[in-house]
Amino acid sequence: MDEHTPVLVEEALEALALRPGGLYVDATFGRGGHSARILEALGSGGELVAIDRDPAAIAAGRTRFAHEARLHLVHGEFAELATLVLAHTTRTHCDGVLFDFGVASPQLDDAARGFSFGKDGPLDMRMDPTSGQPVSVWLEHAGADEIRHVIATLGEERFASRIAAEIVRSRGAQPLTRTTELAALVARCVRTREPGKHPATRTFQALRMYINDELGQMQRGLEQALQLLAAGGRLVAISFHSLEDRLVKRFIRVHSELDPVLARLPRPPAGAEPPLRRIGSKQRASAAERAANPRARSAVLRIAERRP
Ligand SMILES: C[S@@+](CC[C@H](N)C(=O)[O-])C[C@H]1O[C@@H](n2cnc3c(N)ncnc32)[C@H](O)[C@@H]1O
Repeated sequence: MDEHTPVLVEEALEALALRPGGLYVDATFGRGGHSARILEALGSGGELVAIDRDPAAIAAGRTRFAHEARLHLVHGEFAELATLVLAHTTRTHCDGVLFDFGVASPQLDDAARGFSFGKDGPLDMRMDPTSGQPVSVWLEHAGADEIRHVIATLGEERFASRIAAEIVRSRGAQPLTRTTELAALVARCVRTREPGKHPATRTFQALRMYINDELGQMQRGLEQALQLLAAGGRLVAISFHSLEDRLVKRFIRVHSELDPVLARLPRPPAGAEPPLRRIGSKQRASAAERAANPRARSAVLRIAERRP
């Protein structure tokens, strides 16, 4: 119930190319699977700042790592990564940042968090239940077009219009407050079945991403990581679906290519070098890991390095 099997752990460790005395950031602590491996590889002079917006993740981490002086566990959003990290260390730059996006298994497993279409619970889906509004509250007030737009763009759901219209019709009679009510409503609207997927998968993904501003958080988090990285420092990102991976891929491309205007000059001016260098191409989990952990099947890891 309170466990999360980390994905691509060894690959992420190798990608971080740890310096034993360095400062590292685990921007998505979860249950600390990646953090534990980073701490194993760090020397006594190394430090790790681990962030999670879910207070339950931080509480579990404080118990698991109670005696680990090199670890600074921080409750907060990685959109504020630089500020959070600088508040917990005397260093000004870090040697690597790891992002392992999405939700952790304990969040999905706990029906009371409202993430799961398969378990009856309040329609909440906030990663940080102490801030923002639950999905049920947003669905009470949002316009049909707004709901359609969220489900179409963040869920890439073909039946978004039908689902949005049905939500608005249904809430006229009674507010939608339970996960299973919404899952049943969506199942009535989705006419084609994708193999191995519950018909509400896309809608739940979209609402979760919207209510937690996941893409906005990712963009700001990556920008903050870039600001904080020392020369030679590594940015390592693990994504779980195409919208996430597209954002990471684009971020690395934009920051690792020379400005197209400057690229046309015979000799680009000094200091025009892009800040990042892409390392290798995307990596996926091994067949053995994919067989053992279904979450690993969609995981994609990308790496970039801060230039001097
Ligand atoms: C896939 S899990 C990470 C699992 C972790 N690597 C492990 O080995 O246990 C993602 C975690 O990131 C957290 N998270 C997602 N978005 C966040 C954000 N914007 N700021 C901080 N934490 C976030 C979630 O609450 C969740 O615990």
